[in-house]
Amino acid sequence: MTSMKRVFVALDNMDKAQIFSLLDKSKGKITSVKIGLELFNLYGRELVKEVYDRYKVEIFLDLKLHDIPNTVSKAIRSLKGLPISYLTLHLSGGIEMLKASVEMRNTSLPQCKLLGVSILTSLNDQDIESIWGITNSKELYKNLFLLAKKAEIEGVVCSPYELEILKDLDLGLESMCPGIRFQDEINDKSTGDQKRVLSPSSALENGATNLVIGRSLTQAVSLESRIKEIETI
Ligand code: C5P
Repeated sequence: MTSMKRVFVALDNMDKAQIFSLLDKSKGKITSVKIGLELFNLYGRELVKEVYDRYKVEIFLDLKLHDIPNTVSKAIRSLKGLPISYLTLHLSGGIEMLKASVEMRNTSLPQCKLLGVSILTSLNDQDIESIWGITNSKELYKNLFLLAKKAEIEGVVCSPYELEILKDLDLGLESMCPGIRFQDEINDKSTGDQKRVLSPSSALENGATNLVIGRSLTQAVSLESRIKEIETI
């Protein structure tokens, strides 16, 4: 039995009323949510507080911070007081940025775990070569995961296809995996813009700590049956 607590429902493509309607409809079954840049830029910290106050859900704030150490650590300080359990930042910001973030988190957001984004799943090997001139992407992922460990952040965001690299390194990092579709959606090739997808059960079998699922739940014909599907894994 898999707890829905491990599934962070991505609250994208919705306004405030639609978010509350979804959470009401789940009758307390959705217990973890992801709020990204779209909603945060629109509604700000008030939305984070409102969602928490109304539903007492675990909140993953996916801001993917990426700037110089001073700016990122001050941005973390500005989140002080928010009821968030996870926050993202880009691993490619480098060790100094990551360490400054951990230090600021410890004082301003002690309850919040930091997750490092390795390479955006929208970038393929060709993009990686054209941006950084790197042809061995596996080595790049390894370096980034090692950096996360060195900086002592709690985990990484990665595609379920990178879980194997993470497992081999055995660093004790948590993994938060987007790019999830139900098996019938994969069979029907209705995976939308996500190219490299895996089902919830395969991703969990491959060692994912938590999953991020958006449209497969928020736009499900029957939310209840999809939730049951997860709970029976
Ligand atoms: O609707 P869907 O399940 O594709 O939503 C996935 C969520 O995970 C979106 O909010 C997307 O921005 C996010 N995400 C992703 N790939 C990453 C990091 C985050 O799809 N590498």
